[in-house]
Amino acid sequence: MSTPSTVRVVEVGARDGLQNEKTVIPAATKIELIDRLSATGLRTIEATSFVSPKWVPQLADAAEVFAGIRKRDGVAYPVLVPNLQGYERAREVGAREVAIFTAASEAFNRRNINASIDESIGRFMPVLERAIADGVRVRGYVSTVLGCPYQGEVPVADVVRVARRLYELGCYEISLGDTIGVGTPLKARAMLRAVAGDVPVDALAVHFHDTRGQALANILACLEEGVAVVDSSVSGTGGCPYAKGATGNVASEDVVYMLEGMGIATGIDLPALVSTGIWLSEQLGRATSSRVARAMTA
Ligand code: HMG
Ligand code: MG
Repeated sequence: MSTPSTVRVVEVGARDGLQNEKTVIPAATKIELIDRLSATGLRTIEATSFVSPKWVPQLADAAEVFAGIRKRDGVAYPVLVPNLQGYERAREVGAREVAIFTAASEAFNRRNINASIDESIGRFMPVLERAIADGVRVRGYVSTVLGCPYQGEVPVADVVRVARRLYELGCYEISLGDTIGVGTPLKARAMLRAVAGDVPVDALAVHFHDTRGQALANILACLEEGVAVVDSSVSGTGGCPYAKGATGNVASEDVVYMLEGMGIATGIDLPALVSTGIWLSEQLGRATSSRVARAMTA
C-alpha cells in the first residue's frame, strides 16, 4: 500500500498535553515551549485553549500565552474554543485559527462540554459564521472515534455523521480523535475509510492517544489510507481531563522518527524536537514518554 510522501505534524502538546498535566507550569514556560517548537520546523502548533478556566485551570493563562509567543511566518497557531465566548477571547489576542471540538459519543460530550452532540454543533454555528466572516480558519475535532469511556463502543456511522457535519459547516480539516487510546489498526483503518467516503481524505487528520501503545500502528494504518496530517504531542504529554485514564497523545518525536524512517518528509528537525521534549519533561518534573527521546539521549 502507498503512503503519502510528506506529512504535516500538528503539535498539540501545549494544549492537549498541558491541559492534563498535574504540574501547572508558568505562562513564561509555555511561551518558551511554543517558541522552541516553532524553531524545529513544525508548521502547525496548537498553542492553548480558550475554554472555561473553571473546567481547565491549567490553561487559564491562554490570553497571556498566546499574546507572548513569537509568531513565526509560515507557522499556524490554532487555539481551542468551545463557544463564542472562547472565540472572542481568542480574537482579542489576535488568534487567526481556531479549533472547535465535539465527539461521536453523546455520553462523552455531556461530560466534556456539558452538551449533546447537536447542542454542541448549535454552539459552534455562530463561531463558524463569525470565523468565516473574519477570515479565521477553523479546524474541527471529533473525539471518541474508536471508543468512549462512558458508552463503550461508538458506531462508525456516528463518527461519519459528525465529521461530515463539521466539514459541511466549514471546517477546513477534521481531526479524528481516539481520545482514550483504545483503537487497533484494522479498526482505525475501517473507521478512516468510512469517514473518507463522506469527507475528502485531504481534509482529514488523525489524533491518537497512546494509552495502550497502539498509536504508531494506528497512524500507519491511516497513512496507508491516504491521511497526511497527524496530531501528536512533544514528550507524549497530556490526556483529556474528562476521559479518565486517557494518557498523552502519541509522542511527536516517535511520530517524526517513524515517518522520516519511512522516507516521508516532515520538515522537522528531530534532534531539536527531542531536546525540546526533554526540556519540557524537566519543567514538568517527570520522565519523557517518548521512546525515541529516551533512546536518543541514553
Ligand atoms: P458550562 O458550565 O455548561 O457553560 O460549560 P456555561 O455557558 O453555563 O458557563 C459557565 C461559566 O463558564 C460562566 O461563568 C461562563 O462565563 C464561563 P460564570 O458565570 O459561572 O462565572 N465560560 C467561559 N469562560 C471563559 N472562556 C470560555 C467560557 N465559556 C463559558 N470560553 C463549557 C460549558 C463548554 C464552557 C465547558 O464545558 C468547557 O469549557 N469545557 C471544556 C472542556 C475541555 O477543554 N476539555 C478538553 C478539551 S477536548 C479534548 O481534549 C479532546 C481532543 O484533544 C480530541 C481527542 O483527543 O479526542 C480535542
Ligand atoms: Mg486529545
